[in-house]
Order: sequence, then structure tokens, then C-alpha cells
Amino acid sequence: MDKNIETVKDDKASELSEILDGLNKKQKTLPSKLFYDERGSKLFDQICELEEYYPTRTELKIMEENIDEITSVFNDESLFIEFGSGSSIKTRILLEHLPNISGYIPIDISEEYLLKSAQQLRNEFPAIDIYPVAADYTKPLILPPIAKKVSHKIAYFPGSTIGNFPVQEAKEFLKVIFDLVGEHGGLLIGVDLKKDVKILEAAYNDSQGVTAEFNLNILHRLNREFGFDYNPDNFEHRAIYNEEFGRIEMHLFSKVDQEFGANNQRFQIKKDESILTEYSHKYLLKDFAELVSGYFSVEKVWTDSNSLFSIQYLTTK
Ligand code: TRP
Repeated sequence: MDKNIETVKDDKASELSEILDGLNKKQKTLPSKLFYDERGSKLFDQICELEEYYPTRTELKIMEENIDEITSVFNDESLFIEFGSGSSIKTRILLEHLPNISGYIPIDISEEYLLKSAQQLRNEFPAIDIYPVAADYTKPLILPPIAKKVSHKIAYFPGSTIGNFPVQEAKEFLKVIFDLVGEHGGLLIGVDLKKDVKILEAAYNDSQGVTAEFNLNILHRLNREFGFDYNPDNFEHRAIYNEEFGRIEMHLFSKVDQEFGANNQRFQIKKDESILTEYSHKYLLKDFAELVSGYFSVEKVWTDSNSLFSIQYLTTK
């Protein structure tokens, strides 16, 4: 991608203004995209291995138990488009079962990471044409020309990342996917389900404190990259289930009355006041069908025996 120094600077300035806007709100917020620097990505990999964090393990189990049915939604003229870098084991399981697709397109905002993982996949799956696209996938996208015939596009969005969007943004993102896959298109998506609050809260407040480290890593990153002067020791991670909105809310609670800031802007926060960093919405199957109904119909749902998680195949109307 063509990125000159000016646009990189502009990106940084607009990111900072987005950060400052969130901190000026009554409920202070920070953009969750800040989680995934190098350390954050490593911590997230550790989260996925935690005993309490059931989503990753359960999604993989559902895939393994239903792989033939899941991959039967693809055919020899399918283009497989993943929202995410394609670095995960889930992608590999699918690609192993899809040797004849027209192509595979991983889309990710982090260009360096994307190109590295695309190269690895090329080595592992030499028969599959791989076209990485570096882009912010919440914005409209243009796909590269594909060598083989394509009659059908299937997007893939695992990990219940859809749950991290507020409802309105989730709908806007579904429209981006709808516009991309077009008529006869599909969306294979991981969706986390509503369940006992104790299981949910444990998944996001793990006993080893990895999720706490992950959440606090945002403050370290703001200090390093944006010139903030946070003292991360004065904040405490807590994830709370909000029944009314059916979502886990990730907070950093202030342990004391304190002040922090950057760029000549100071912010005050009181003891027990929080900065909100992320949502993770949980759905009933019928509520998810309703959420997508503007653009997609639910064709098929696969779940585990405890109905913790679901993989769903949606088609455009
Ligand atoms: N998509 C994941 C989820 O909502 C992301 C996630 C897991 C996460 N643990 C987190 C995000 C902790 C922020 C903080 O389950």
C-alpha cells in the first residue's frame, strides 16, 4: 500500500482526536481497536487458551464436529473472504477442507501482519490463490481481480467479533458485508450466545488476570504512542454483564481520584468512576436473526451441546 509520511501523521492525529473525544464523554470511553498492538495481540492469544474463556475452544469444537456440513456451503466457484488476517487455526481448518475454491482473501488493517500470515498460508496451501487486502474492513471495500471463475462469495467472520460492535455499528458492518458478497452471497459467522451470568463474567474476569493485563495494556500504549501520563497501577480491570443490553462491558475503574492527559488536555476521574473499553454482546438465536434480517436470512445454525456458542451460515436475500 502507498502510505506516505503525511498520511501516517494524519492517521495519528485523527486517532488522537478520537481518543480525546471518548475521554470527554460523561462515561469515558477508549477505542477498542487500541487493544491490538504486539503485546495486546499476544495477550489475546493467551486469553483464547484460558480455562474460563469458553468461546474459542467451543467454536473450534463446533467446527470440528460439523466440518463437512459447514464446508458444504462452498463450491468450486466460491470466493472465500475473511474479515481478519487469517492467522488463526480456524482459517486453516476451513482451508484444509476447501482445496478447490476460486480464491481466499484475508482482509486486515495491520498490513505487516497480514502479509506475513498470507505468505505462511501460501506455503501451507499452495493450491489456493491467496489475495491479501490491507484495509479497514468497517469501511466499503474493493476486491482485487481474481484469476479463477467466481460465481459466489462467502464472507467469514469468526470469534463473535460481531458482538464487539454496538448494535447500530453491527448493522452498518452487516451492510458492508452485504454489499461485498452481493446476490447469492453468504456469511459464515461465529456468534456468542446468552448464558448464565457467572459463566460470562468469569470468561472476562479470568483468575490469572490475563484479561486485566489485556485491558490495562491500552493505557501503556497511550503513554507510549500518544504521550499520555496514565499511571496504570491506579486502574483496575472489571468486566460486568449488563442484563438490559445483553452485553459484557469491559471497564477500567479508577482506584483513586486522579488526573491524566496528553496534548495539553487534562482529564479528571474519581475513585470508582470508569473508562469503558469494549462491549461484547451476547445473543439469543432469535435476536441475532432479527439483527441481521435487514440484509441476511439465517440458513443454518451449528451449536455445541451446552448451547454456549454458535456458528451460523447466513445468505443474502
Ligand atoms: N471478541 C472477543 C469477545 O468479545 C474479544 C475479547 C475477549 C475481549 N476478551 C476480551 C475484548 C477482553 C476486550 C477485553 O469475546
